[in-house]
Amino acid sequence: MKQGTLCGLDIGTTKTCVVVAAEGPNGLEILGFGEAPSLGMRRGVVVDLEQTVKSIEAATEKAERMSGVHIEEAIVGITGEHVRSVNNRGVVSVANDDREVEAIDVERVVDASKIINVPSDRQIVHALPRFFTVDGQDGIVDPVGMAGGRLEVDTHIVTAASSFLSNVLKCVHRAGIESAGVVFEPLASAAATLLPEEQHVGVLLLDIGGGTTDIAVFTGGSAIYTATIPVGGQILTNDISLGLKTSLAQAQEVKHRFGVGDVAGGAVRTFSVQSLDGRSQRDANTQELNAIVVPRVLETLRMARAKVLENVPRDLVVGEVVLTGGGASLPGLEALAEKTFDAPVRIGVPANLAGTIDALAFPQYATAIGLVLFARKSELAGVESARNGSLMTRLRGWLAALWN
Ligand SMILES: Nc1ncnc2c1ncn2[C@@H]1O[C@H](COP(=O)(O)OP(=O)(O)OP(=O)(O)O)[C@@H](O)[C@H]1O
Ligand SMILES: [Mg+2]
Repeated sequence: MKQGTLCGLDIGTTKTCVVVAAEGPNGLEILGFGEAPSLGMRRGVVVDLEQTVKSIEAATEKAERMSGVHIEEAIVGITGEHVRSVNNRGVVSVANDDREVEAIDVERVVDASKIINVPSDRQIVHALPRFFTVDGQDGIVDPVGMAGGRLEVDTHIVTAASSFLSNVLKCVHRAGIESAGVVFEPLASAAATLLPEEQHVGVLLLDIGGGTTDIAVFTGGSAIYTATIPVGGQILTNDISLGLKTSLAQAQEVKHRFGVGDVAGGAVRTFSVQSLDGRSQRDANTQELNAIVVPRVLETLRMARAKVLENVPRDLVVGEVVLTGGGASLPGLEALAEKTFDAPVRIGVPANLAGTIDALAFPQYATAIGLVLFARKSELAGVESARNGSLMTRLRGWLAALWN
């Protein structure tokens, strides 16, 4: 892969998506993408290694054909209930005698913020600086070059269960791709859909996928809370299939077409569905559908709301809610979300790129596109490179090199 070419790999519950992008004259441009059904993942966790490998291979092959790039490494999205976030603070004395903050001090203070109690079966995936404080002056975005003796940082730390993480990476490796780093998916989706102003004022992002709903809250320009709840669009399809006694395929079709069904005041529409055995048809209507879909959608939105209320300071202003992921395309969802969150709601479609491909201008591609955007923006800073391994193994590597 040429210098400046980036690849994002989103292994979802319903589909795997590979995006290849490269730096163009006006910013990042998409060169190609590939998509394949994903059958080996459930709610962000690998349940079938072989199926997952196959899905990655199929999506990668398509992306390679379209872009003409041979994909060697990719930034890999991770999600699932095992991923958790916490905010922490690090403090160091500025090392230099002139008392001027240098890049090395920034690295040291971010490392200091990583000293938290992480159980041995978990590992830190991100330590993202939210702001720095120099000699008591907070809210500093980049302290390098500033005068001061005491440097502090507030970071957003994301941890994941090592075994779940290593299963995802195992599949990636078996598909012939090296991991260039892992990114918690809501951070990626946010990079693709949120405007800098929104991240500054305060915004809640929900990426409603097939098996998970990823949450990210931004304020002051950075993430202060990220999490995942294990419900998504698939459960809704199941509900419709059970309620209307029809196949999952037909239930999904009805869901995509009518969404929450008839919302207050709208005319009731009738449609026909096939029985489960496919032998007979019967009439169903949007009122029936509404009675099935609305409670489940409200339940999901309220679960997300409760998580945010529990974990985000009360005085924080969430000026807006942005919905993305395939589930955000559910007709009628915006109105329900507006009521639940009592805030303006918009659907987040991947943007923030110089050049994209029309076929990718849908919410379900926010994560894959966001992976390359996130990696580029932070130059994988704060992303524990899975290829380089933990700090300890890297240290061992350096020591070994010294002796050779
Ligand atoms: N027009 C639509 N209306 C309603 N739902 C839709 C629509 N289009 C897609 N979906 C739903 O979006 C879901 C898939 O979304 P997405 O592709 O973002 O999930 P994923 O990334 O594979 O899964 P996850 O992020 O949970 O691991 C499916 O449940 C699908 O039915
Ligand atoms: Mg997804």
